[in-house]
Amino acid sequence: MHLPSLAIAFLGSCPLWRPALASVSPAAGSWSHALAKRHHRGRHDDCPLVNRGSFIINQCQQYPENADWDEDSCLVYFGSLWNATVAIYDPYIDDFVAILEFPNVTRTGTEHIGGVTWDRFSSLITILVDSAAPWATAGADVSGTNLLLKWDPSTQTTLWTVNLTETTRGAYGGFQDIETDKRGNTYVVGTYPASILRVSANGSDVVPWYGPPQTANTTVPGLGGLVALGPEGNLLLANDAGNGSIYRLDTRAQLAPRTLAQVPIRPDVRYNDTDAIYAPPLYNGTVLLVASHAAGIQVLVSRDGSWSTAEHLGTIPNPLRGTPGAVADATKGSVVTAAVQAGPNAVYIIDDWLADTWVEGEVAGSRTQFPMPDITAQIDALLRLG
Ligand SMILES: *[C@@H]1O[C@H](CO)[C@@H](O)[C@H](O)[C@H]1NC(C)=O
Ligand SMILES: *[C@@H]1O[C@H](CO)[C@@H](O)[C@H](O)[C@H]1NC(C)=O
Ligand SMILES: *[C@@H]1O[C@H](CO)[C@@H](O)[C@H](O)[C@H]1NC(C)=O
Ligand SMILES: *[C@@H]1O[C@H](CO)[C@@H](O)[C@H](O)[C@H]1NC(C)=O
Ligand SMILES: *[C@@H]1O[C@H](CO)[C@@H](O)[C@H](O)[C@H]1NC(C)=O
Ligand SMILES: *[C@@H]1O[C@H](CO)[C@@H](O)[C@H](O)[C@H]1NC(C)=O
Ligand SMILES: *[C@@H]1O[C@H](CO)[C@@H](O)[C@H](O)[C@H]1NC(C)=O
Ligand SMILES: *[C@@H]1O[C@H](CO)[C@@H](O)[C@H](O)[C@H]1NC(C)=O
Repeated sequence: MHLPSLAIAFLGSCPLWRPALASVSPAAGSWSHALAKRHHRGRHDDCPLVNRGSFIINQCQQYPENADWDEDSCLVYFGSLWNATVAIYDPYIDDFVAILEFPNVTRTGTEHIGGVTWDRFSSLITILVDSAAPWATAGADVSGTNLLLKWDPSTQTTLWTVNLTETTRGAYGGFQDIETDKRGNTYVVGTYPASILRVSANGSDVVPWYGPPQTANTTVPGLGGLVALGPEGNLLLANDAGNGSIYRLDTRAQLAPRTLAQVPIRPDVRYNDTDAIYAPPLYNGTVLLVASHAAGIQVLVSRDGSWSTAEHLGTIPNPLRGTPGAVADATKGSVVTAAVQAGPNAVYIIDDWLADTWVEGEVAGSRTQFPMPDITAQIDALLRLG
């Protein structure tokens, strides 16, 4: 039988995906109804337990780069790197309630979505769209559009979008993680070279808050991730992607100091390939998980939560010993890009694949299985021994 090539292109390599809770259309869908209802339960860390242990998510081309746990709706928001979508996952039914697509971003190949966070102060979702070029060229080419979106899950609308490239004038880039403080500011961290932009609550003001110290050599890897701690999000931690140092900043400062204050790590274990950092809410700001592509998840602790120093408790390898065979097998060839809490009680490794060959005519590889190794028991054991 002869199929017109248009039909083949349209079908693509993935089976047609339908959201678990019916339509993605915000106006008519029962999805919007379900999510809005759950969203307005208005409770924090009161979600049902997730007692699944390690598991595998079956979703074509998910390629998760980073994620966050939304304590209002009890859903996980994933940034799907290559498709440049936001995939919203319900860990209780093991399915996605929606995959958000963005015009001129999704499946362009020139844009990625990595950083996606839930804001504990405003309940809004922040989405970072970043140019693919810096990642493809290790910082040699930092051109392209970088956007920050504020998305309201209760109405499923984008409240505002800012074009960060208008501030950077294309001189630096590699943006990959975001945080928010109680005043409504959003901090965006850049890797090529180190930078932090601060965006005001309504998106009207973008300030180069830290750096870049130089833009002559954009290939020097700078900061990788961000975490904002404390009751008002005033304590900001950032990691050096190139040497694993942890820096401590105060979001109340008008501008960050030119020289960042290092958090001494004892013993001084640091990795040269760090990506996202994450403080699982279940440890109330005392545990910092540092993703190292090759080594796994480094567990740092500051028992009083001040982060004036950090204790290195150990590094949980990927896959960890004792991981069920199918999940361990599914991690083959992956790099560890982040960690995320899913449920009030469980913490997972996020594995991504940065070198899969793209399906012809598409912008991602053909992978359909994405493992979620549960590392909660390992973190708890390190905390008991430490
Ligand atoms: C990625 O895009 C394909 C279409 O090319 C789609 O079938 C798949 O569901 C998408 N996955 C995600 C996580 O965006
Ligand atoms: C997408 O890009 C095209 C070409 O630059 C532009 O005309 C169009 O308005 C954009 N669409 C949206 C929704 O931004
Ligand atoms: C973002 O701003 C840059 C620099 O002004 C511009 O080149 C680019 O077209 C803008 N992108 C969008 C989507 O507005
Ligand atoms: C954004 O907030 C600032 C105050 O922080 C205000 O001056 C400005 O008018 C606001 N802009 C919009 C578009 O609401
Ligand atoms: C830029 O920095 C990289 C290290 O990140 C170094 O290998 C390279 O030599 C530097 N280039 C110049 C022109 O200084
Ligand atoms: C969590 O940490 C804060 C300090 O940031 C402290 O005031 C609070 O008592 C802690 N809560 C619990 C339950 O330990
Ligand atoms: C890590 O690298 C930064 C520059 O990227 C440098 O300022 C800092 O001193 C380095 N830290 C250590 C402990 O080498
Ligand atoms: C990073 O560290 C690993 C392990 O110690 C080493 O094999 C690798 O060469 C280092 N890479 C860079 C870019 O220094």
